[in-house]
Amino acid sequence: MRVIETIAELKSIVKEEKAAGKSIGFVPTMGYLHEGHLTLANAARKENELVVMSIFVNPTQFGPNEDFDSYPRDLERDTRLAESVGVDFIFAPSVKEMYPSNGGIKIVAGRQSEILCGASRPGHFDGVLQVVAKLFHLVEPDRAYFGQKDAQQVALIQTLVRDFNFPLEVRTVPIVREEDGLAKSSRNVYLSEQERANAPAIFEALLLAKEEFLSKGDVKGAVEIASAHILSKTDGNIDYLEIYSYPDLQAVTEETEHFLLAAAVYIGKTRLIDNIIFSLK
Ligand code: PAJ
Repeated sequence: MRVIETIAELKSIVKEEKAAGKSIGFVPTMGYLHEGHLTLANAARKENELVVMSIFVNPTQFGPNEDFDSYPRDLERDTRLAESVGVDFIFAPSVKEMYPSNGGIKIVAGRQSEILCGASRPGHFDGVLQVVAKLFHLVEPDRAYFGQKDAQQVALIQTLVRDFNFPLEVRTVPIVREEDGLAKSSRNVYLSEQERANAPAIFEALLLAKEEFLSKGDVKGAVEIASAHILSKTDGNIDYLEIYSYPDLQAVTEETEHFLLAAAVYIGKTRLIDNIIFSLK
């Protein structure tokens, strides 16, 4: 496995591998890899002849008061983990390599970004779509792999691919969880022992809300039960806990068949997100 730091080197490898007729699977990440990321890489390994993973903490998707500087980074450890699941190339550029100029041109995420994380983190999805579009151009994948952990991100990337005609398939993998239900996240390392012990309350709450919603069909009641559970089990501060249609992310109506039940909760200073996607039985 090789770690590539420059765009020029990446492009020449992609050109060579494409000329050899190889299919490319691409796993974009911000590193500090855990089993969630490795599950994406495994899926890519099964379906493609070449697997490229990017590791880039993208500054344009962080707000001014967010954790860009403190975001955990460990390229050496990531390299070992990626190699263990058969990644062929890691693309780990510097910020300067990815953003040499500030030309002021932006991608603006559409309507699907007005709620949930898009509402709490203004500009976040503009930055995600900007970096993902650049990476798609550079890696030229046949398939790109994303986790349902970031369900709104997946929905927006599917729209990006459709609206901007990227010639690739978006593949998704389910959320990988710790044994006690907490969704795996690079940000879990920020949690104190007590916060870590309380954090599974988020997923428990989502399960309670799903049950309530499926049995009574009442969005408000389901949200109230889930919120009460989180507040009783943690000192957490609920950023949002909402239900929308999925993947179009509209208000739930009588006609809605597929649902996204999503939460963002501050456990101490750490903002954790989780969700459940489900359909009416
Ligand atoms: P990052 O948070 O590193 O996540 C990289 C990919 O791993 C995303 O597709 C995310 O949904 C997936 N992932 C994270 N935790 C997961 C879990 N517990 N189970 C399954 N998949 C999981 O998402 C980003 O980086 C960035 O926004 C990026 C797309 C790389 C653009 O900068």
